Parts: sequence; structure tokens; C-alpha cells
Amino acid sequence: MAIHTDNIVVETSETSKINSVDFSNLDFGRVFTDHMFVCDYENGEWQTPKIMPYQALFFEPSARVFHYGQAVFEGMKAYKDEDGKTFLFRPQQNFKRINKSASRLAMPEFPQDYFFKGLETLLKLDSEWIKPGVGNSLYLRPFVIATEPAISASPANNYKFMIICSPAKSYYNSAIRVLIAEQYSRSADGGVGFAKAAGNYAAQFYPTSLAKEQGFQQIIWTDANTHTYLEEAGTMNVFFRINNKLITAPNNDRILDGVTRKSVIQLASDLGIDCEVRQIKVEEIKTASREGSLKEVFGVGTAAVISPVSAFQHQDELFEIADTEDSYGKLFKQTLLNIQHNISEDIHGWRYEVK
Ligand code: COI
Repeated sequence: MAIHTDNIVVETSETSKINSVDFSNLDFGRVFTDHMFVCDYENGEWQTPKIMPYQALFFEPSARVFHYGQAVFEGMKAYKDEDGKTFLFRPQQNFKRINKSASRLAMPEFPQDYFFKGLETLLKLDSEWIKPGVGNSLYLRPFVIATEPAISASPANNYKFMIICSPAKSYYNSAIRVLIAEQYSRSADGGVGFAKAAGNYAAQFYPTSLAKEQGFQQIIWTDANTHTYLEEAGTMNVFFRINNKLITAPNNDRILDGVTRKSVIQLASDLGIDCEVRQIKVEEIKTASREGSLKEVFGVGTAAVISPVSAFQHQDELFEIADTEDSYGKLFKQTLLNIQHNISEDIHGWRYEVK
């Protein structure tokens, strides 16, 4: 039966899949909760949003998303503390970014009250899927796709905004080895690299599969023009530590404006760690590695949290990065997780309680 709660039509699932899920053994993004949020854009406006049982959807083969990739998404997480309270982390940032991404792909912006009401209603319904304990979370995937059945190459008139949820542990199980891009590029000036556009990810799959054949899990992308500056790792922004100084690339229209990235920059300042936001040359980290001053490299992102890099390769030369005792990556990870799980004080007001 459908009920209306504050302008959202809610149809609950009659049964739950939760008892069939092994929460101690989760493969990232393969299991989804009982419900999903759906809102259609028709006749120039967003229609009444719905929450319904998670299910397959029907689309015409001519839906524009299948032909021109008009699709954007977000990655967020919900956390539960030991008292059973649920929190989001800086959700306003994700709301702003999905609309920035949508605008770049000529898609309509989504209303703020629908975004937050949708998230909160969904999280309350599927609350049992958010397990307490540091390391557990519910990964939330808001996304928008062009559904209009028409294949002329122009923006659609109809869209679907959805949120699906997947219980998650870590994205990478151990330190990763990365290849530094010399030939392929992820994004270029004036392009869509800053947006969470679906195509940005698809375009990385082929070069990343070549890197995987050589034993690397990810590519660190370099600037498309010269391949001399380090940018981001596709699923993560990247930080380099030379002696006790952190360096990360500045935001521009090629690099995703990561929420974890900006949180780590703030935490570095809080913890008195020197962090430079500036262009960084591949040669600079190679030299630092040869001299023994490259102490750490780590990727940061919502799914990956903070993932250490244990080696990188450039021009067939492999550089191993030894573990460091006073790891900044580990410190940032613990500090972030403690804020996210309501264990420590939240001086910046990053936690958002779902009540
Ligand atoms: C996230 O961290 O949320 C991402 O977008 C990475 C995802 C592609 C797995």
C-alpha cells in the first residue's frame, strides 16, 4: 500500500532480503537494500518523488542515456553510532555537486528538499541495513539519467533521479599499486573531469584494465597536454607526502572536487600538518622517492576512504613506498572515521543526523 509522507509516496517492500546478506563478507556495490528512491522529470518539472521496493526498471531502448551517456551520480555514506543514531557526512556537498555535474551535462537541477527528504525517508526505512561499528557503512548512490525515448543528439526532456543503497565495508582491501599515466588521459581543459559524469568512469576502464594486466589496481592520471603533472586516481583524489609536507593537486575543471579531499585538507590544518595545494610534477615524486623523502602516497574518496599506495610505476621504472610508522594516511582515516561514526567531536559541523 502506498502512503504519502511529506510529499513522498512510499510503497514499502513486503519482505526484506536482509537475512540473506552476509554483512561480514561484502563485495563493494553488489548487494542493495530493500528500497529505492525515484523521482521523474516530466513536462519541465520534477514530479512527486516515490520510494518503492528495489526492483528492475523498464526503459525504452531509445532512452537517451543509452546513446549519449547523459548520466551523473554521487557517492555518499550513512553511518550508525553505538546508540543507533544515523549520520551522513557533509551531504550538502554532494547535493551541490550533483547539480553542478547535472548542469554541465545540460540536465535539470534537482530540488534540495526532495534530495534531503528522499535520503532521510529511505535511510529510516532501510535503517537495519546500516550496521554500527567503525568500518561499516551504507554506501548511497544518487544518480540521474536521461530517459526520454529519442535518439537525436540533444539533451533529453525526461529524466529519472534515483537513490539506491548498498551496505559497504572497504573498497580496497589492502594497499594499492598504481601506474602513472603516460598515454591515455582521463580529462582535459574545458571538459567534464570535475563532474561526476558516468562517462568519466567508463573512459578509464580500458586503460585501467591494461594497468591491471601489469599488476596495478589504479592509474594516477596526469595532465592531458604534457603528462608531467599528477592529477587524480579516478576513484580517488591523491595526496603525496614528502618528508612531513603533504601535497595535493589544486581543483580545476579536470579534477573532481572530492569531499574527502577537502576534509583531509581541513584536518591537516587542524592537526598542524603542512599541506600544499599546488601542481605536482611526476619528476618531483620520483626524485623524492630516490632520495628517500617520499614518505607516503594515499588516495582519498568516499568509497575508498583513505587508501595507501604501496608502489607506483612510471616509464617502466617501479618505485616502492615502504610503510611509515607515523602514517598521516592512517591518522586522517582514524580521525575521519571517528567524526563520521559520532565518536569524536565534530568541530566543523560535518555530521548530519538523520532524525
Ligand atoms: C566514490 O568514492 O563514491 C566514488 O565515486 C567511487 C566509485 C566510482 C566507486
